[in-house]
Amino acid sequence: MKTTLSVIKADIGSIGGHLKPSERLIDRVREFLNDNQDGMVNDLYIGHTGDDIAILFSHQQGVGSDKIHKLAWDAFLAGTEIAKEQGLYGAGQDLLKDAFSGNVKGMGPAVAEMEFEERPNEPFLLFCADKTDPGAYNLPLYLGFADPMHNSGLMLSPSMSKGFKFTIMDVAHIEGDKTIELNAPEEIYDIAALLRDNERFVIESIHSRETGDIATSVSTTRLHNIAGKYTGKDDPVMLVRVQGAFPATGEVLSPFSIGHYVAGFMRGSHIGPLMPVVKNSSVSYFDGPPVVSCLAFCVHQGKLTTPADAFEHPYWDWVRSRVAEKATEIRAQGFFGAAMLPYSELEYGGIVAKMNKLEKKFTVKK
Ligand code: F6R
Ligand code: MG
Ligand code: MG
Repeated sequence: MKTTLSVIKADIGSIGGHLKPSERLIDRVREFLNDNQDGMVNDLYIGHTGDDIAILFSHQQGVGSDKIHKLAWDAFLAGTEIAKEQGLYGAGQDLLKDAFSGNVKGMGPAVAEMEFEERPNEPFLLFCADKTDPGAYNLPLYLGFADPMHNSGLMLSPSMSKGFKFTIMDVAHIEGDKTIELNAPEEIYDIAALLRDNERFVIESIHSRETGDIATSVSTTRLHNIAGKYTGKDDPVMLVRVQGAFPATGEVLSPFSIGHYVAGFMRGSHIGPLMPVVKNSSVSYFDGPPVVSCLAFCVHQGKLTTPADAFEHPYWDWVRSRVAEKATEIRAQGFFGAAMLPYSELEYGGIVAKMNKLEKKFTVKK
């Protein structure tokens, strides 16, 4: 049976700044979906990571279905009403367009989708990140799908020995989706050369070269490309199929123990380590650190199991302590050097305005 998984997420308002949505807001989104799904959805799950609400749909409408996208958009609009009623901060923040036009891509919400023939048992992972951008997944995916030091299954399992095909998007190109397909392991240096630039080149999807099946789908939205100005970080979502011809769950999770430095800490303008957190976590210290949650599901004939919280295990408490130390370390140097993003990625426009003013005051000695 062919199943489509669609995860659609948006920040439509939160309590006390950009920390977490209210219970009433989430309840309203859930209620709206239950009342309006009209038999087009096989199953769904709603959760939040930081200030972003993610809806995971299991359905048979295929990728990019206007029905599913409209259902999510309308649910976010219904939630926004509650956010306004409660006076939540940033009510409707990620709903950047006034009217729905067939697909939520380019309208503010982040989307990751995949359609596949269900295996007899079909485990997959849902990742949701807050206070960061889609390039945050570059390193863990590279290590999980191309590096035998992190995924020894690439050597051990005959079903992964052909490697994986990476589809990488140049998100600086805003006139359309500009992508390149590269194969690991043969083209691993080319893949690495692109993926090191997290702000420009991001993984859109990964396919098994053994079966041709889709393994991974990442939301590639850059909000500032849509809005033309800072409206919050992109806060990307990702779906990863695991086991069998794909990496084992642990081979996908283990790179997240690094707590690698990503963009998006405070005002979307600082660098901070990515902290793996449990489901429905809020955000705190210095509007961060950037966080990522991971829920593991199985889908069978379109029905989802309850999720297992992959970062709940005690091992990750140790990781969180280490990541907290990394966050504190980099904060000690404030805005200097590597603690802040490069000029082109700074949000709010304040520095650009200052530089324009100061440029006129510079003098050049002969
Ligand atoms: C929001 C974020 C925050 C805000 C900061 C200022 O996701 O990253 O760090 O940028 O709290 O927020 P505003 O501009 O809404 O006052
Ligand atoms: Mg926000
Ligand atoms: Mg957010």
